[in-house]
Amino acid sequence: MEQNKIIVAIDGYSSSGKSSMAKWLASRIGYRYIDSGAMYRAVTLFAMDNGMIDSNGNVDAEALGNEVDAIEIDFAIMPDGQHTLLNGADVERQIRSLEVSQHVSPVAAIPMIRKSLTRRQKEFGQQKGIVMDGRDIGTTVFPHAEMKVFVTATPETRARRRLRELEDKGMKADYESVLANVIDRDHIDETRAESPLRKAADAVVLDNSDMTPAMQQEWLLNLFNTIVCCKK
Ligand code: CDP
Repeated sequence: MEQNKIIVAIDGYSSSGKSSMAKWLASRIGYRYIDSGAMYRAVTLFAMDNGMIDSNGNVDAEALGNEVDAIEIDFAIMPDGQHTLLNGADVERQIRSLEVSQHVSPVAAIPMIRKSLTRRQKEFGQQKGIVMDGRDIGTTVFPHAEMKVFVTATPETRARRRLRELEDKGMKADYESVLANVIDRDHIDETRAESPLRKAADAVVLDNSDMTPAMQQEWLLNLFNTIVCCKK
């Protein structure tokens, strides 16, 4: 059965619910889940902690670029799900903060950072049997992925979802700041020169603005089953 495993690439806009969908699918089909955004967030936290981002939000791209290959990023399975490890420390909570969200897109636009993380992401996919979500998974990381989904929803819907997520974790934020961050990141992600956020030509679009999680899950599993069944 091993040789029938595929690569699933789920890309889309910030807070579109890609991670929840990807996580659910991976556990349902017994695949490994990799959150590529968590890797960009971890590098951003490293840059913040090491004085590589000034008070105006400018990133010292050269200093960070020189360090990036030495930054260890890993994932650990905990009772409440997968946690991101930065140089061995559990940073799952910190990387989800609005502060990290506000700095991550400029960091992710730096070519040396993308090169380093893209290489690591490709390594995760060597054995197939992986679900990865992000912005450039179907276009750059796994252009030959057998299943590609591009997820979108209105900015307002996404901001409401993100706000609820932050509040559920007991983190403070207000709707206007979250909405501004969602719009700002979309813009930076779509207009950067290196691997911009865009739909791969062969990706299937899912606008989940009016879908419940259960509806999305059914849609995703149907697509997966169709692809795997036709591949045999
Ligand atoms: O969870 P959310 O959708 O808000 O974002 P994320 O998936 O955690 O990604 C955070 C940021 O990392 C994005 O806004 C992008 O700037 C960057 N990113 C990227 O450039 N390429 C990826 N494959 C994944 C994330």
